[in-house]
Formats: sequence, structure tokens, C-alpha cells
Amino acid sequence: MNRKIERIHELFLQIEKSHPHTGFETPLFDQLIEALKVFKDHKDVELFKIYSIHLHLKKDMPLRDFLYWIVPIERYLNKNLKDEDFIIFNKDENNEAHKIEKKKNPIPLVIVLDNIRSSFNVGSVFRTSEAFNIEKIILAGYSPDPSNPKTQKTTLGSHDYVCWETHPKCLDLVHDLKSQGYYVIAAETTSHAMDLEKPFAFDKKTVFIFGNERFGMDPQVIESCHETRKVPLQGIKNSLNVANAASIFIYEFAKQFTEHKTRLASASMLPGTNG
Ligand SMILES: C[S@@+](CC[C@H](N)C(=O)[O-])C[C@H]1O[C@@H](n2cnc3c(N)ncnc32)[C@H](O)[C@@H]1O
Repeated sequence: MNRKIERIHELFLQIEKSHPHTGFETPLFDQLIEALKVFKDHKDVELFKIYSIHLHLKKDMPLRDFLYWIVPIERYLNKNLKDEDFIIFNKDENNEAHKIEKKKNPIPLVIVLDNIRSSFNVGSVFRTSEAFNIEKIILAGYSPDPSNPKTQKTTLGSHDYVCWETHPKCLDLVHDLKSQGYYVIAAETTSHAMDLEKPFAFDKKTVFIFGNERFGMDPQVIESCHETRKVPLQGIKNSLNVANAASIFIYEFAKQFTEHKTRLASASMLPGTNG
């Protein structure tokens, strides 16, 4: 059985490689569809799910959407991938908040990771988030979460001290967060993005959203956020590793929040105030 799934995986990778030259107009695409259809009527639910992937594959789809469907294949194979490639599929139904040893007075910041493929990147964001005592991490789309032992290894236990939850669809999540009064900021290097250093308003809780390692944030999600910010870069490469970008964002937010609290404290000590 694994040989057939390995073949499907290989076809996905070959199509990804040839995509810049041929798009999906390649016999490999038809071979992939046929290879998936083999699992029609299969009793194993996981294999039946793999069969139904063929219904989602269209020759005019963006590569980003095509590669979304490689994730369940890799999960099935439980492949030993390189750090950067480590893919674990998230359980969509697992949407309850994880109540853990809550630390006191978290900074009013929520981090959303949307369709992150690498559990090492997720682990790294957990460690920074724990170190800066942020309120919560939300793992959206297929981002791996700490319910998986492999992801747990990468968080070095920090997931026990940061609240986290999952959400199947980032776009819906942004709407929910906005309706709950959060101020939602996309972290992305778009041409209209503001510099990260711009002062934050602390009248609302803030959310930062980070996107996929290869494709960045979904443009529709960026559009739905209140604003976009970026770490200004001087290099030839246009982007940072997602976990590094998150560390810089969290550091800047925490620094500004501390300054804000100091200002409030000294204002309350002025003569004529109640402090
Ligand atoms: C490796 S980047 C994606 C790069 C992708 N190839 C692109 O050009 O859009 C992954 C994520 O890290 C974050 N990121 C990376 N560099 C950033 C920067 N300079 N400012 C803000 N966010 C950044 C963004 O959330 C981005 O979606």
C-alpha cells in the first residue's frame, strides 16, 4: 500500500518541480489523478480521503492550492522529512482551546500561524511566545499543533505554558477576531506594508498573523486585516524565515508595551492625578 502512496507523493513533487515550465499541462497530472482514483471504495477511511483528493485537483488551480493536498499524503506516510519540510496535518475538528498552566498578566498579543508546514517553525514560535508571555497562539489551516508528539519535541515543553488553539480557516478566524474587538495585523512584505516600528495602539488587544513558508500569507487574509506591517529588510532576499520574523514582531510589541505601561505609571504619579 505504501508503495502506491509513495508514488502519489512522488508525482506531487515532480509536478511541483515542472510547474514553472509546464503548469499542470503535463501527463504527470493525469497520472496523479489516476493514482488517486485507485483508492475508490476503499474501506480504510484515510485511504478513502486520499481518493477524494482527486476531486479538488484542477488544471487551472494555483500551485499554492495544489500543494495544500500534498499535506495529507505526507501525513499518511509519516515521512522523515528535513526540518524545513516537516509536515504534520492538523486535525480540523480539534478546535477547543487548550487550558494549560496559565501564567499571570500575559501581554495583550495573539499570534496566528496560517498554513505553516514546518513543525520546527511552529516550535520556535512557541518558545518565543512563552518567553515573552503572550496571551495565545492560534494554529490555523494545516499548521501542525502540539497535540502531535513530533511537534511537542520542537516546543521543548513551552506549549504547556502558552494557551493555544486551532482553527480550520484563517479568513473566518480573522472575521471572528475582529468581531471580538481585536486589532488584526498581517505580517507580510507587501508594497503597502507599514514598518513594524510604528507605535501600536494599546486600546485593543493585538493579533499578528504569519503566513506559509513558501507562499506567504493568503492575499484574501491580508485584505481582511486592519493593517499590514513588515520588518524592513536591506538584503537581496525579500523575506525572513517565518519564526525569525515572528520573534522580531513579538520583541517589538513587547518593548512598546513595556514603554506604554511605564508612561501610564509615571502619568498616574503626576500631581493632580489619583495615582
Ligand atoms: C518565508 S516568508 C514567505 C515568503 C514568500 N516566498 C513570499 O515572498 O511571500 C513566511 C512568512 O514570514 C513572515 N515574514 C517573513 N519576512 C517578513 C518580513 N520582513 N516582515 C514581515 N513578515 C515577514 C510573513 O508572515 C510570511 O508570510
